Amino acid sequence: MLRGPSGRSVSDPRDQGGSDAPMSARQDQARVPTPAIARPAPAGARVRATSAGQLALELPLDLPGISIEPDWKAQQRLWGHSFHPMCSYLASFPAALTHSFIARYSRPGDVVLDPFSGRGTTPLQACAEGRIGVGNDLNPFAHLLTAAKVAPATRAAAVTRLTQLRLAWQADARSWRAIAGQVIAAPETTLVPEAGSRSMTPAETIPMEVAVAFHVETLAQLLSVRTSLQLDDRTDRFLGAAISGILHGKSASYLSALMPNTFSMAPRYVRTFAARTAFDPPRRDVFDGLAAKLDRLFRQPPPAAEGVALLGDARDVAPRMQRALRERGRAERARLVITSPPYLRVVKYGYYNWLRTWFLGFDAGAIDASLDDAHHREPYLAFLRDVLAGLRPVLADDAVIVMVIGDVETDRGRRIKDGVGLAERAFEQAAEPEGYRLAGVALDDVAAVRKMTKLWGDEAGRATKTDRILVLGATEAGRRRALAGAALDVDWTWPPRSLQAI
Ligand SMILES: C[S@@+](CC[C@H](N)C(=O)[O-])C[C@H]1O[C@@H](n2cnc3c(N)ncnc32)[C@H](O)[C@@H]1O
Repeated sequence: MLRGPSGRSVSDPRDQGGSDAPMSARQDQARVPTPAIARPAPAGARVRATSAGQLALELPLDLPGISIEPDWKAQQRLWGHSFHPMCSYLASFPAALTHSFIARYSRPGDVVLDPFSGRGTTPLQACAEGRIGVGNDLNPFAHLLTAAKVAPATRAAAVTRLTQLRLAWQADARSWRAIAGQVIAAPETTLVPEAGSRSMTPAETIPMEVAVAFHVETLAQLLSVRTSLQLDDRTDRFLGAAISGILHGKSASYLSALMPNTFSMAPRYVRTFAARTAFDPPRRDVFDGLAAKLDRLFRQPPPAAEGVALLGDARDVAPRMQRALRERGRAERARLVITSPPYLRVVKYGYYNWLRTWFLGFDAGAIDASLDDAHHREPYLAFLRDVLAGLRPVLADDAVIVMVIGDVETDRGRRIKDGVGLAERAFEQAAEPEGYRLAGVALDDVAAVRKMTKLWGDEAGRATKTDRILVLGATEAGRRRALAGAALDVDWTWPPRSLQAI
């Protein structure tokens, strides 16, 4: 299992025999030593790390620490709203991490922003706590997941639409079965209708790896649903996100058993594996699987507060966010940002989701070509500086900015030096020059390397090893608020009885 910064889970633990939520921190702690969190130091002082944990990892910390204990690591696996585990996403936050900062640094009604929202953990958790959660991502798959969570379907609408989809399938099942049968016999040459086309007009071929992943009946149902879903409709988007979450995985609740839920295995690997093992896809009913998924998602009612999901570059999120909030009659400035920018050349969000992007009708190659997750260090730091400069106009004067940045130890299998200490460089070269004030750095350990070795062999070192959580103020007032809030006790009752906030 790959984990990202601050224990951000990238796998669905149903594959570990559990239910679909981030793997519990306790499981991590059982396997790896936990470095001590950085202790507070006088503001502005430069200190060297002295804690046993930091020394053990040989990672110097040369910025002041902030005493925020990583309490999120001690929470239950299913902590947080039941929409969080809708679909796995590489390097996503655990919901509890976002709560730790939402509770400290925002009040109900405040705008909480994540300009790199991924699967929408920050904005969903913010909405679930009565804040206005705003998520932005340049990846249309991430945008879909974020939108499905912060502007969700009602349970009644989702169930009604599921019934419609089932009836539509039953009406044309014979034709869909014929198409699916042809696809499996000759995937490279058989044409199927396009995603969202609402027609049966053959228009595109299917990647061979899609054809080998599913039982013919499951593929026929998926083709029917894929052709019907309109992703600009709130209910269909919710169902599309929910189906993405059950598309592949190792238990009976998933539609293909060919690969883990975490991410799509490389197409070449999939072909070889299927041939070598004479893979015989189990028959799984899409409609039954989706009904069960909806039951899990709606274990809790949708958040009372609706949020905003934006699609676009983090560098120009400010005007888009302002416009969206103005249209909704909301405050236009964020009081809290919780975010984790992309890694240095570690994750390809299109490639590692190619089966899901096929189902949704997105182009995985185009996604990877557009994202800023392939930079070397200097362009990466320049990119971060642009993002932080762009955010300024939409930050409240006392806004707190929480940025989780992991170290990257190797690049494409080669050891690199400049990926370590990235958070410190991000402060010095991106945040400080834009006027942000440092409240301190919290440390968090990640068991990524060890975990990934099992999955990706030699490529394992590409995972981040240690995370730093930069806690910044937009101004001196923000820095002071960040320092004052660090020591607050956070209420971990879920659903919340009362939330501590300053
Ligand atoms: C580490 S992930 C964030 C995960 C998120 N914290 C969560 O809980 O799911 C980084 C995200 O940055 C997005 N991204 C990459 N380049 C971007 C850009 N220029 N603008 C906005 N988002 C971008 C990626 O699509 C990815 O979702």
